[in-house]
Amino acid sequence: MNYRFIKASLLSVALSTGMASAAPHQVTVTADLEQQGPVINKDIYGQFAEHLGRGIYEGLWVGPDSSIPNTKGFRNDVIDALKEMSVPLVRWPGGCFADEYHWRDGIGAKNERPVKVNTHWGGVEETNAVGTHEFFDLAELLGAEVYINGNLGSGSVQEMAEWMEYMTSDKNSTLANLRRENGREDPWDIKYFGIGNESWGCGGHMEPDYYVDLYRQYATFLKTPPGKKPLLVGSGGHTEDTQWTDVLSKNIERNMDGISYHFYTLPTSEWETKGHATEFGKDMWFATLERTYRMDEYLQNNIAILDKNDPEGELGFYVDEWGTWYDAEEDREPGFLYQQNTLRDAVVTAINLNLFHKYAERVHMTNIAQMVNVLQAMILTDGPDMLKTPTYHVYDMYSVFQDATAIPVELDTSDYTMDDKALPAVTGSLAKSKDGSTYLALVNLDPENVAAITLDLEGDSNKTLKGEILTAKNITDKNTFEQKDVVAPKPFETKASNFQLPAKSIVVVKVN
Ligand code: AHR
Repeated sequence: MNYRFIKASLLSVALSTGMASAAPHQVTVTADLEQQGPVINKDIYGQFAEHLGRGIYEGLWVGPDSSIPNTKGFRNDVIDALKEMSVPLVRWPGGCFADEYHWRDGIGAKNERPVKVNTHWGGVEETNAVGTHEFFDLAELLGAEVYINGNLGSGSVQEMAEWMEYMTSDKNSTLANLRRENGREDPWDIKYFGIGNESWGCGGHMEPDYYVDLYRQYATFLKTPPGKKPLLVGSGGHTEDTQWTDVLSKNIERNMDGISYHFYTLPTSEWETKGHATEFGKDMWFATLERTYRMDEYLQNNIAILDKNDPEGELGFYVDEWGTWYDAEEDREPGFLYQQNTLRDAVVTAINLNLFHKYAERVHMTNIAQMVNVLQAMILTDGPDMLKTPTYHVYDMYSVFQDATAIPVELDTSDYTMDDKALPAVTGSLAKSKDGSTYLALVNLDPENVAAITLDLEGDSNKTLKGEILTAKNITDKNTFEQKDVVAPKPFETKASNFQLPAKSIVVVKVN
């Protein structure tokens, strides 16, 4: 899609005097509904479940003997909520954890599985109660496909090759028979398989050239029966870095289907003091959205390199970790990365999903970090209780875009400004879903000013827009275990081609 951002002269005055703008934003959305852009791969809506904090244990897995109602050990309330919002793909077992994970620890009788120390995340005991079989159970319960991240950092070529054989072989090999003994007759399907994670950091502190050779070696020995080969993922760079994308795409000629990339949104952009999850003012609201919107430039830069090194467009660009990352709450284990989630997180989500749609030609898969109780979660749990976060609601509202065909759209918008910085006040997406319906999503980033939207869809002014709006009274509003629906979608409908998009709101509507 092609966005053009224009700045109203009034806003330029506000910018030069350091004032906040007061007038409604003027936004024109122009599109020809018969035009077709790329398909928005449903895997852009992928999730991430790492052995980290209360993400898997407690959040998803309570064990079959728990008093919390569960199926095969996975809590029914959380699974039902996740199924409602349509999870197409789950990445597991990490993250940094993946490069210390040894798959044999997580198979066979649970009481015989070794107890390890989760050295990355709080130094807690890892019982290995959730292993390969349990993860595939989870995927099956969710109706999701799987993205498994292999251990390059502290494993071996043999260990990774044998895990692949264990999961995918249909032969009478000892490993395939071990899988059968452990309760799974048929081989599983693996959609994506990652060779290492953050190899520039927790995955081994490597240089990209060194990683390239390791990648080639590991990928050579990942053998699968015909039709069972997963898409293989090279572990790429992060934030403003483009070197990893460049070196990998130039030097790995075969056996790689895409390159991963990580970018986290920290309000302050400082890892030492990232910013508070729920106590912030308009300055930190703006700073957070400004940081998250850098995703646009970072995607453009990496995609430009891929377009040069891979002009046929064979490699995907997989943003397999993204989302907000705040300071740990005072009374919580900092290594568990638990954080609350406000309307600000909802707006961050909509901005990023709109960007992923914009670059859907190359961005085929992403995984927000993470699914339950960790970082920008969909769901938070407290004992037997659970709540849906504002981020959950955006995923739910946007689920109509999974596998939809993007419609090129021009979005002319005034800016939302603070000090010397400017962001587009409104971003959006337009697409035709699989059932032929047209959907429009718009997000107003400005916490104070409404946006006056003019729709110019083939000059037809008789459209009905019907769907949902997500907003709240205050920028810091959140859902708590006492009040679970402070930030929840409400019906939204208009017949006019000129309508108002409230401040700090997200709308997803069907266009009739
Ligand atoms: O998502 C939390 C961590 O962030 C992951 O384990 C790691 O890959 C990244 O640094």
